[in-house]
Amino acid sequence: MSTAAAERLYERVRACDLCPLWKTRTNAVPGEGPIDAEVMFIGEAPGVNEDRQGRPFVGAAGQFLDELFAAAGLSRQGVYICNVLKCRPPANRDPMPGEIDACRDYLDEQIDIVDPLVIVTLGRFSMAKFFPNQTISRIHGQAREAAGRFYVPMYHPAAALHQGSLRQVILNDFAKLPALLERARKAEVRPAPPLPMALSEPPDSQPSPRSDSRPTDSPIADAPIEAAPPSHAEATEQPEPFAPETAAAGRPTQIRLFD
Ligand code: URA
Ligand code: SF4
Repeated sequence: MSTAAAERLYERVRACDLCPLWKTRTNAVPGEGPIDAEVMFIGEAPGVNEDRQGRPFVGAAGQFLDELFAAAGLSRQGVYICNVLKCRPPANRDPMPGEIDACRDYLDEQIDIVDPLVIVTLGRFSMAKFFPNQTISRIHGQAREAAGRFYVPMYHPAAALHQGSLRQVILNDFAKLPALLERARKAEVRPAPPLPMALSEPPDSQPSPRSDSRPTDSPIADAPIEAAPPSHAEATEQPEPFAPETAAAGRPTQIRLFD
Protein backbone atom coordinates (compact mmCIF):
# COMPACT_ATOMS: atom_id res chain seq x y z
CA MET A 1 0.00 0.00 0.00
CA SER A 2 0.99 3.56 -0.41
CA THR A 3 1.81 6.75 1.40
CA ALA A 4 -1.42 8.13 -0.05
CA ALA A 5 -3.38 5.38 1.71
CA ALA A 6 -1.68 6.31 4.98
CA GLU A 7 -2.43 10.00 4.47
CA ARG A 8 -6.08 9.25 3.77
CA LEU A 9 -6.21 7.19 6.96
CA TYR A 10 -4.64 10.03 8.97
CA GLU A 11 -7.23 12.47 7.62
CA ARG A 12 -10.04 10.15 8.67
CA VAL A 13 -8.54 9.86 12.14
CA ARG A 14 -8.25 13.63 12.47
CA ALA A 15 -11.91 14.00 11.57
CA CYS A 16 -13.10 10.97 13.56
CA ASP A 17 -16.03 11.14 15.95
CA LEU A 18 -16.62 7.42 16.43
CA CYS A 19 -16.14 7.61 20.19
CA PRO A 20 -16.61 10.45 22.68
CA LEU A 21 -12.88 11.17 22.92
CA TRP A 22 -13.12 13.46 19.89
CA LYS A 23 -14.85 16.05 22.09
CA THR A 24 -11.94 16.50 24.47
CA ARG A 25 -8.98 16.09 22.12
CA THR A 26 -6.88 19.02 20.95
CA ASN A 27 -5.29 16.96 18.17
CA ALA A 28 -5.81 13.38 17.16
CA VAL A 29 -2.55 11.39 17.05
CA PRO A 30 -2.81 9.00 14.11
CA GLY A 31 0.78 7.75 14.27
CA GLU A 32 3.89 8.33 12.21
CA GLY A 33 6.83 6.72 10.54
CA PRO A 34 7.84 5.25 7.19
CA ILE A 35 5.12 3.03 5.80
CA ASP A 36 7.76 0.49 4.81
CA ALA A 37 9.13 0.29 8.37
CA GLU A 38 10.20 -3.17 9.48
CA VAL A 39 9.23 -2.57 13.09
CA MET A 40 5.98 -1.12 14.41
CA PHE A 41 5.56 0.06 18.00
CA ILE A 42 2.04 0.26 19.39
CA GLY A 43 1.47 2.27 22.57
CA GLU A 44 -1.67 2.94 24.53
CA ALA A 45 -3.04 6.42 23.87
CA PRO A 46 -1.82 9.99 23.51
CA GLY A 47 -0.91 11.89 26.68
CA VAL A 48 -1.06 15.62 27.20
CA ASN A 49 2.03 16.42 25.09
CA GLU A 50 0.98 14.14 22.25
CA ASP A 51 -2.50 15.70 22.29
CA ARG A 52 -0.90 19.15 21.99
CA GLN A 53 1.44 18.20 19.17
CA GLY A 54 -0.54 15.54 17.30
CA ARG A 55 2.47 13.22 17.40
CA PRO A 56 3.03 9.97 19.34
CA PHE A 57 5.47 9.61 22.24
CA VAL A 58 6.80 13.16 22.39
CA GLY A 59 6.63 13.51 26.21
CA ALA A 60 8.65 11.94 29.01
CA ALA A 61 7.75 8.37 28.00
CA GLY A 62 8.82 9.25 24.46
CA GLN A 63 12.20 10.46 25.68
CA PHE A 64 12.80 7.14 27.36
CA LEU A 65 11.51 5.38 24.26
CA ASP A 66 14.23 7.14 22.26
CA GLU A 67 16.78 5.65 24.67
CA LEU A 68 15.22 2.26 24.18
CA PHE A 69 15.41 2.65 20.39
CA ALA A 70 19.10 3.42 20.76
CA ALA A 71 19.58 0.30 22.91
CA ALA A 72 17.98 -1.69 20.10
CA GLY A 73 20.06 -0.08 17.36
CA LEU A 74 16.94 1.61 15.99
CA SER A 75 16.11 5.22 15.32
CA ARG A 76 12.76 6.91 15.67
CA GLN A 77 12.95 7.93 12.01
CA GLY A 78 13.21 4.32 10.89
CA VAL A 79 10.30 2.80 12.80
CA TYR A 80 6.54 3.21 12.77
CA ILE A 81 4.91 4.41 16.00
CA CYS A 82 1.22 4.52 16.82
CA ASN A 83 -1.26 3.83 19.60
CA VAL A 84 -4.33 1.74 20.34
CA LEU A 85 -6.33 4.96 20.80
CA LYS A 86 -5.72 7.94 18.57
CA CYS A 87 -7.23 10.50 20.97
CA ARG A 88 -6.26 11.30 24.53
CA PRO A 89 -8.47 9.97 27.32
CA PRO A 90 -9.23 12.77 29.80
CA ALA A 91 -6.75 12.95 32.68
CA ASN A 92 -4.83 10.07 31.10
CA ARG A 93 -7.29 7.52 32.39
CA ASP A 94 -7.14 3.99 30.99
CA PRO A 95 -8.75 3.40 27.60
CA MET A 96 -12.27 2.00 27.88
CA PRO A 97 -13.33 -1.14 25.99
CA GLY A 98 -15.82 0.83 23.86
CA GLU A 99 -13.11 3.28 22.84
CA ILE A 100 -10.74 0.48 21.91
CA ASP A 101 -13.47 -1.12 19.80
CA ALA A 102 -14.31 2.17 18.08
CA CYS A 103 -10.69 2.86 17.24
CA ARG A 104 -9.70 -0.69 16.26
CA ASP A 105 -10.11 -0.42 12.50
CA TYR A 106 -7.60 2.43 12.27
CA LEU A 107 -4.91 0.38 13.94
CA ASP A 108 -5.75 -2.67 11.84
CA GLU A 109 -5.45 -0.58 8.68
CA GLN A 110 -2.09 0.76 9.83
CA ILE A 111 -0.85 -2.77 10.37
CA ASP A 112 -2.05 -3.68 6.86
CA ILE A 113 -0.40 -0.64 5.30
CA VAL A 114 2.95 -0.96 7.06
CA ASP A 115 2.93 -4.76 7.11
CA PRO A 116 5.84 -4.84 9.58
CA LEU A 117 8.09 -7.81 10.23
CA VAL A 118 7.97 -7.14 13.94
CA ILE A 119 5.23 -5.63 16.08
CA VAL A 120 6.27 -4.42 19.53
CA THR A 121 3.44 -3.73 21.94
CA LEU A 122 4.09 -1.16 24.67
CA GLY A 123 2.04 -1.78 27.78
CA ARG A 124 -0.91 -3.97 28.54
CA PHE A 125 -3.54 -2.41 26.28
CA SER A 126 -1.71 -3.05 23.04
CA MET A 127 -0.49 -6.40 24.42
CA ALA A 128 -4.13 -7.42 24.96
CA LYS A 129 -4.84 -7.02 21.25
CA PHE A 130 -2.55 -9.92 20.41
CA PHE A 131 -2.13 -11.70 23.72
CA PRO A 132 -5.49 -11.80 25.47
CA ASN A 133 -5.54 -13.46 28.89
CA GLN A 134 -1.88 -12.73 29.47
CA THR A 135 -0.07 -10.65 32.02
CA ILE A 136 2.76 -8.37 31.01
CA SER A 137 4.92 -9.39 33.96
CA ARG A 138 4.82 -12.96 32.69
CA ILE A 139 5.44 -12.52 28.97
CA HIS A 140 7.37 -9.25 28.57
CA GLY A 141 10.26 -9.51 26.15
CA GLN A 142 9.20 -12.92 24.83
CA ALA A 143 8.66 -12.91 21.06
CA ARG A 144 5.97 -15.05 19.43
CA GLU A 145 5.82 -15.77 15.73
CA ALA A 146 2.61 -16.04 13.77
CA ALA A 147 2.15 -16.05 10.00
CA GLY A 148 5.64 -14.77 9.35
CA ARG A 149 5.47 -11.87 11.74
CA PHE A 150 7.01 -11.56 15.19
CA TYR A 151 5.12 -10.05 18.11
CA VAL A 152 6.95 -8.83 21.19
CA PRO A 153 5.11 -7.57 24.26
CA MET A 154 7.12 -4.97 26.17
CA TYR A 155 6.44 -2.98 29.29
CA HIS A 156 5.26 0.54 28.60
CA PRO A 157 8.18 3.00 28.86
CA ALA A 158 6.11 5.11 31.26
CA ALA A 159 6.11 2.13 33.64
CA ALA A 160 9.87 2.54 34.04
CA LEU A 161 9.40 6.20 34.85
CA HIS A 162 7.07 5.24 37.69
CA GLN A 163 8.93 2.16 38.83
CA GLY A 164 12.67 2.53 38.56
CA SER A 165 13.38 -1.18 38.92
CA LEU A 166 11.72 -1.78 35.54
CA ARG A 167 14.17 0.43 33.70
CA GLN A 168 16.83 -2.24 33.26
CA VAL A 169 14.21 -4.89 32.52
CA ILE A 170 12.87 -2.88 29.59
CA LEU A 171 16.36 -2.05 28.37
CA ASN A 172 17.24 -5.76 28.40
CA ASP A 173 14.05 -6.63 26.52
CA PHE A 174 14.74 -4.02 23.85
CA ALA A 175 18.31 -5.25 23.50
CA LYS A 176 16.87 -8.50 22.11
CA LEU A 177 15.25 -6.73 19.16
CA PRO A 178 18.22 -6.63 16.74
CA ALA A 179 18.65 -10.41 16.77
CA LEU A 180 14.91 -10.90 16.43
CA LEU A 181 14.74 -8.54 13.48
CA GLU A 182 17.58 -10.45 11.85
CA ARG A 183 15.62 -13.69 12.28
CA ALA A 184 12.49 -12.08 10.89
CA ARG A 185 14.37 -10.85 7.82
CA LYS A 186 15.77 -14.31 7.17
CA ALA A 187 12.38 -15.97 7.64
CA GLU A 188 10.88 -13.59 5.11
CA VAL A 189 13.05 -14.61 2.19
CA ARG A 190 12.64 -18.34 2.74
CA PRO A 191 10.26 -20.34 0.60
CA ALA A 192 6.76 -20.51 2.00
CA PRO A 193 5.67 -23.79 3.59
CA PRO A 194 2.29 -25.18 2.61
CA LEU A 195 -0.73 -24.01 4.58
CA PRO A 196 -1.98 -24.68 7.14
CA MET A 197 1.26 -23.97 8.86
CA ALA A 198 2.33 -24.85 12.33
CA LEU A 199 2.19 -21.78 14.49
CA SER A 200 4.57 -20.42 17.05
CA GLU A 201 7.31 -22.85 16.17
CA PRO A 202 10.85 -21.60 16.29
CA PRO A 203 11.39 -19.77 13.00
CA ASP A 204 14.55 -21.74 12.31
CA SER A 205 12.63 -24.99 12.06
CA GLN A 206 9.59 -23.82 10.14
CA PRO A 207 9.68 -20.55 8.28
CA SER A 208 6.34 -19.01 7.54
CA PRO A 209 5.17 -16.93 4.64
CA ARG A 210 4.23 -13.31 4.96
CA SER A 211 0.82 -12.86 3.51
CA ASP A 212 -1.54 -9.98 2.93
CA SER A 213 -4.27 -11.82 4.76
CA ARG A 214 -2.39 -11.96 8.03
CA PRO A 215 -4.85 -11.48 10.85
CA THR A 216 -4.11 -8.79 13.40
CA ASP A 217 -6.55 -9.31 16.20
CA SER A 218 -6.32 -12.94 17.13
CA PRO A 219 -4.66 -14.49 20.11
CA ILE A 220 -1.11 -15.56 19.56
CA ALA A 221 -0.36 -19.13 20.56
CA ASP A 222 1.11 -19.32 24.01
CA ALA A 223 4.68 -20.38 23.33
CA PRO A 224 7.64 -18.05 23.11
CA ILE A 225 9.94 -18.63 20.18
CA GLU A 226 12.81 -19.22 22.57
CA ALA A 227 11.04 -22.32 23.87
CA ALA A 228 11.30 -25.81 22.43
CA PRO A 229 8.25 -26.95 20.47
CA PRO A 230 5.65 -28.32 22.89
CA SER A 231 5.09 -32.04 23.25
CA HIS A 232 1.83 -33.35 21.86
CA ALA A 233 0.31 -33.52 25.33
CA GLU A 234 1.23 -29.92 26.01
CA ALA A 235 0.12 -28.82 22.61
CA THR A 236 -3.41 -30.04 23.19
CA GLU A 237 -3.61 -27.76 26.20
CA GLN A 238 -2.58 -24.71 24.22
CA PRO A 239 -5.10 -21.99 23.48
CA GLU A 240 -6.59 -21.73 20.01
CA PRO A 241 -3.83 -21.35 17.44
CA PHE A 242 -3.37 -18.07 15.69
CA ALA A 243 -5.23 -18.98 12.52
CA PRO A 244 -6.45 -16.79 9.68
CA GLU A 245 -9.97 -18.22 10.05
CA THR A 246 -10.09 -16.93 13.61
CA ALA A 247 -9.75 -13.37 12.44
CA ALA A 248 -12.02 -13.80 9.44
CA ALA A 249 -14.74 -15.16 11.71
CA GLY A 250 -14.68 -12.01 13.77
CA ARG A 251 -12.65 -10.19 16.31
CA PRO A 252 -13.10 -10.56 20.01
CA THR A 253 -15.89 -8.20 21.03
CA GLN A 254 -14.22 -7.54 24.33
CA ILE A 255 -10.59 -7.28 25.16
CA ARG A 256 -9.79 -8.43 28.65
CA LEU A 257 -7.40 -6.15 30.43
CA PHE A 258 -4.72 -7.06 32.90
CA ASP A 259 -2.35 -5.56 35.38
N1 URA B 1 1.98 6.92 25.98
C1 URA B 1 1.46 6.19 24.97
O1 URA B 1 1.03 5.07 25.15
N2 URA B 1 1.45 6.73 23.76
C2 URA B 1 1.92 7.94 23.49
O2 URA B 1 1.87 8.35 22.33
C3 URA B 1 2.45 8.69 24.56
C4 URA B 1 2.47 8.17 25.80
FE1 SF4 C 1 -12.11 8.16 16.68
FE2 SF4 C 1 -10.26 6.68 17.88
FE3 SF4 C 1 -10.39 9.27 18.39
FE4 SF4 C 1 -12.29 7.66 19.32
S1 SF4 C 1 -10.12 7.63 19.90
S2 SF4 C 1 -12.62 9.65 18.30
S3 SF4 C 1 -12.44 6.16 17.64
S4 SF4 C 1 -9.89 8.33 16.41
